Formats: sequence, C-alpha cells, structure tokens
Amino acid sequence: MKLFVDTADLAEIETIAGWGVLAGVTTNPSLLAKVEGDADDIYRRVCELVDGPVSAEVVAETRADMVEEGRRLAAIHDNIVVKLPMSAEGLAATSILATDDIRVNMTLCFTAPQALLASASGAAFVSPFIGRFDDIGQNGVECLRDIVEAMETSIYDTEVLAASIRTPVHVTEAARMGADIATIPPKVFYQMLQHPLTDAGTATFTQDFETRRAKAKA
Ligand code: G3P
Repeated sequence: MKLFVDTADLAEIETIAGWGVLAGVTTNPSLLAKVEGDADDIYRRVCELVDGPVSAEVVAETRADMVEEGRRLAAIHDNIVVKLPMSAEGLAATSILATDDIRVNMTLCFTAPQALLASASGAAFVSPFIGRFDDIGQNGVECLRDIVEAMETSIYDTEVLAASIRTPVHVTEAARMGADIATIPPKVFYQMLQHPLTDAGTATFTQDFETRRAKAKA
C-alpha cells in the first residue's frame, strides 16, 4: 500500500517527504483553510516536494464549472489530480476530465455503489473516509472492506485511496483490507514511528556501545 500525506502544511510535507516514504499528497478546502498563502502556489510547492499525485479539490458545484476549475488546477503541474465530490455533477465532470487525460480523485465516497459509479465515470482514485464512519458509530474499516472487495471486480483501473485516517490502526487495517493507498495526517505519521520498545532498545544499544568504548580506553 502506498502512503500519501493528508495536509496542505508545506513544512510537514517537507519533513515527511524527507523520510523517503511519500508517494503522494492529498489536500482539501478544510486543510487549506488551516494554512496561509495562495492555494495555487501551495500546490506548486507541494508538487516540487513530492513526486507523485497531488490532489487539489474543486469547489465548483455544476459540471461545467467543475470541468473549468479542474482544467485550471490540472494545468498547474503534471502531478495535480483533480479532487471532485461524489455527486451526479461530480461524475459527469469526471467523465469529461478523464477524456482529457486529467486524473480525478472522487472524494467523499462512503459506499461500494458510490465507488463503482466513480470508477465507471473514469475516476483514477476513489476516496472512502474511514474516520467519518467511525464518527457516526459505524465501523469505518468494514465499510472500506466493502469498497475494496467491490472494486476488485471493477473492469476499470481505479485505485482505492483510504482517507479520513485517524490512527495508526486505521493505516494497518487499510493495508490489510487491500487499499491501494492510505492518505495519512502528519500527526498519525509521527505516531506510526513510535514504540516504547524501540526507544528502550535504542537507549540500551547506545549505552552498551559507550560502556564498551569506555572499557577499551581504560
Ligand atoms: O482526505 C480526506 C480527509 O482529510 C478527511 O479527514 O479527519 O477530516 O475526516 P477528516
């Protein structure tokens, strides 16, 4: 499973890209609202930092406006993927953009039927939101499983991008369910790094190395 980062924070993207683990980036209007600067400049910089798909979301509401905004966003950089919401207008716009070879990430997909529609319209990615299912008392991971299983039979080449990831357990479960990609907030990337036995083991190795060096000098 490929790992994307889910943020518009350039410093965070640069840090995690420096680990050599990132295959792409997703943003959305809520994430952009948390950072300063012109959105197009941010997308350009993200594309310089990470060599992979970078999702930029449209806010237009009609298919014609979505297509216009999507074409404008796609022109910013070859790596830009146009993010469109799951809706009849979004599907129509996706099918038009796909004929222009512009990749679409259909976001806010919560069910297998929605994902199948997105795939049939030509979406390159579908984004089920795991955490938001959990928020309403449903099992987000099981909902993701439904979508992955349904998409396995799809004749289209659409990747399942697990989104709304809130914990490292979500990341592990997304991989186990067979998601192609998980887009992960920076906070969860840092949590993924951590384990107390890793810290304790590192401290012991360092201490034993120093003890041996001290003995050799004595
Ligand atoms: O990529 C979509 C994701 O950002 C949504 O996450 O935590 O707002 O549900 P969340």
